[in-house]
Amino acid sequence: MAKLTHTLCLFLVIFLAVQESSAVDYTVTNRALSTAGGVRFRDQIGAVYARQTLDKATQFIWSVFQQNTPSDRKSVQSVTLFVDDMGGVAYTSNNEIHLSASYVGNYSGDVKTEVTGVLYHEMTHVWQWNGNGQAPGGLIEGVADYVRLKANLGPSHWVKPGQGDKWDHGYDVTARFLDYCNGLKHGFVADLNKLLRNGYSDQFFVQLLGKTVDQLWKDYKAKYGNIS
Ligand SMILES: *[C@@H]1O[C@H](CO)[C@@H](O)[C@H](O)[C@H]1NC(C)=O
Repeated sequence: MAKLTHTLCLFLVIFLAVQESSAVDYTVTNRALSTAGGVRFRDQIGAVYARQTLDKATQFIWSVFQQNTPSDRKSVQSVTLFVDDMGGVAYTSNNEIHLSASYVGNYSGDVKTEVTGVLYHEMTHVWQWNGNGQAPGGLIEGVADYVRLKANLGPSHWVKPGQGDKWDHGYDVTARFLDYCNGLKHGFVADLNKLLRNGYSDQFFVQLLGKTVDQLWKDYKAKYGNIS
């Protein structure tokens, strides 16, 4: 009997392990090996580390969004990272992340940590809801940088808490504001993302925090002495 139980346990462990690992497939394709940045990616970051990072980012994002079951999440079976010979930093579309080889090549400093942060940001775009396309672009980018911030991957050049001109400026400015809002009610960003599954309204802030987004922004600015 003990032996049977052991065998059953072993099968259960294997079953769970297979389920867990087969949930999302990650592929890394370096299409820029003829460029200095593509070679730097290969030598200083590498496909193995990049794949691990895509997986870790996904687990982290699901936890920030409090998406504990598959039905809470977007249905995505595979994510591909391309290192491309292109300008800019990175973008994501159709569950494909495109990373600029020249950005990697020109980056001065710890390029591995920087790319890790960029991948957390881009991976958030894979998983976040966007209000059926109605959410302000600045909010979408702010949520992506909020995830990067919470992963302790925010770069030192980002604005400090309280800085910025408007709540939906995007990126670091909006990420800091969302962090303030989340401090008022733990799980705010997760709840906001859930509401974004079906649409967008500024009223979501009232619904979740009892104040308009403009009032919240005023409170936030005042808390930090209205610095610019
Ligand atoms: C730096 O960026 C420029 C412009 O995008 C690009 O042409 C060049 O190849 C990059 N340098 C490296 C080392 O990647």
